[in-house]
Amino acid sequence: MYFYKMQPINMRTHIIYPFMYLLVLSIFSCKNKEVDINTEIASMPEVSFFKEAYRPQYHFTPIEMWMNDPNGLVYNNGIYHMFYQYYPEDIVWGPMHWGHATSKDLVYWEHKPIALFPDEHGYIFSGSAVVDKNNSSGLGTQDNPPLVAIFTYHDINKEKDGTDDFQTQGIAYSLDNGDSWNKYLGNPVLGNEGIKDFRDPKVFWHEGTQSWILVLVAGDYAQIYRSDDLISWTFLSEFGKDVGAHGGVWECPDLFPLKVSGSGEEKWVLIISINPGAPNGGSGTQYFIGEFDGSTFTSDQKEEKWIDWGTDNYAGITYNNEPNNQRIFIGWMSNWAYARDTPTKEWRSAMTVPRSLSLIKSGNSYELTNYPLENFGTIFKSELKKDFEMAVGTSETISFDNYNQAEIRFKTPNRNFEFSFNNSLSEQLVLTFDGNQELFLLDRSKSGKTTFKEEFGKNIQKLPITNIPDGEIEVRVLMDWSSVEIFINNGQRVMTAQIFPNENYTNLTFKNSSTDILTINEFEVSAAEPIW
Ligand code: FRU
Repeated sequence: MYFYKMQPINMRTHIIYPFMYLLVLSIFSCKNKEVDINTEIASMPEVSFFKEAYRPQYHFTPIEMWMNDPNGLVYNNGIYHMFYQYYPEDIVWGPMHWGHATSKDLVYWEHKPIALFPDEHGYIFSGSAVVDKNNSSGLGTQDNPPLVAIFTYHDINKEKDGTDDFQTQGIAYSLDNGDSWNKYLGNPVLGNEGIKDFRDPKVFWHEGTQSWILVLVAGDYAQIYRSDDLISWTFLSEFGKDVGAHGGVWECPDLFPLKVSGSGEEKWVLIISINPGAPNGGSGTQYFIGEFDGSTFTSDQKEEKWIDWGTDNYAGITYNNEPNNQRIFIGWMSNWAYARDTPTKEWRSAMTVPRSLSLIKSGNSYELTNYPLENFGTIFKSELKKDFEMAVGTSETISFDNYNQAEIRFKTPNRNFEFSFNNSLSEQLVLTFDGNQELFLLDRSKSGKTTFKEEFGKNIQKLPITNIPDGEIEVRVLMDWSSVEIFINNGQRVMTAQIFPNENYTNLTFKNSSTDILTINEFEVSAAEPIW
C-alpha cells in the first residue's frame, strides 16, 4: 500500500549523515538541470528521505530538522530565494540560523547550504532581503550590486541576564546571488532602546521618496524607519497601538502597495502576524488596508481582518523585487500552540504553497485575497471530473485512491452542505458550509493523530462567510499528506490547517443538509505530482 512506504525510517546515523546530505543535495540540484534525472537517481543508493510519514510532496520542507518562518523572500537574476528560520540540530526550535532554498518558478525548489549562522551578536531571527540595485550600501559595486539581508539578532545571553534590549537589527550581504554571505562588520545597524520584542524587519525600496523603508514590530505595535544606504536608519513613525487584534505579541510585519482589482486605485497593505490571539487560537496573521505616504501608515479600518482563518498559516511575508508585478506570499504552515509537538520525525514543518495576493472591494470595504500561483497548474493531473446534483437529505461518496496528495475543486451555488474526507480507519476531516450561521467550519478532531497536544484537535475552526457574493462560487482544496488548504471564492476566504491521518483518505462524502437540491458543478480531482 502506498501509505506503507510513508512509514518513518530511521536509517540516518551520524556516520552516514554527511554523505547522505551531500547525496540528497546533489539529487535536488539536478531538478532543473537538463540531465536525465532518472538515470542519475537510479545509479545512486536508495534515498528514503522525503517519503517519510507526513512528508509533503509539493510543499517546501527542509531536508531535515526544524524550520519556522520564511525569511528574506527576494527575486534576483532569475532566482526566487527563500530563506527560513532553521535549527539544524534538532526538530524543535533552537539557536536560529537562516536556511536557504532557491527556485526558478516557485514550484520546484533546490535546497542550499545554510546562509546565516548565529554569531557574537546572537541568533539570526526573522527578516527580509533586498537587491541593492544602485549599491547604495557600498557593500558591492555598481557592476555587481549586493543582495542585502536585514534580520534580527537575538542575544540569548543578554536575554538570560534579564535585560530588555537583547534584540537588535543586523545586515549581511552576498555578491554571488545568495551562494555565500558576509555579515556587515558594523553590526548591529539598528540598536535597541529597551523594547523587549523588537524584531522581524521588512525592508523595501519606496519609489515615492527614493529611500529604503523598514517596518518592524515593537511589542504589539509596528515601527517604521527610513534609510539611504541600508546601514543608517532614522525613526519615522509607529502604527497600531490602538487598532487591530492585540491578544499577543506582533511579529513579522510586511508593508506593500496593491492595486484594487478592476480599478486603478492603489492601497497599502500592512500584514502583521500575532501570537497568540488568532481567531481560531494561537498564531495567525491579520492585515490592515490603508495609505502610506513614505513616512506614516494610516488606516481607518475598524474591524480585524485575517489573511487565513485556519490555524496553520503564520509569519507569512511577500517577495521583494518580484519580476511579474505579482505580490507573492508564503507562510509557515504551523502554529506556536503545538508547532514543537507535531508527529513528524526527520523534519518539522512546511511552508504554504506560494500564493498571489489581490485586493478586492465590496461596498466600502477592501479585502485581501490569497490564491495559489498559477504555476501550480502544472503539477496537478486531472483524474476525475463530473457534475452532480443531490436531493435533500442525501449523501454521495466519491472514492479516490489518495486524496492526501491531490487537488479537489468544485463550484456550487449552495451554502448548506458538508463534505468530509475519510479513510478505512474512520478518521475524517469534516468541512461544512453552514449558511444559516454564515460560517464555514473545519473539524479535524477525528482527522487522525490529534492528541499530541490538546490545542490541536480541541476546537472546530470557524470562518465567517459573510460578504461572499450570492451565486456560484469556487471551492478549491489542496491536500498534501499533513496539510489542507481551502480557498473559497478564489481566495476571498482561506483556511489552512495541518492534519495527521494514520492512513490516507480514500473517500470524499458530500451530505446535503439544506432544504434545496445540492448542485456540484465542475467537480474535479487531480493527483499532485511530487516536486522532489
Ligand atoms: C515568528 C517568530 C519571529 C522571530 C522568529 C524566531 O514565528 O517568533 O518573531 O523572529 O519566529 O524564530
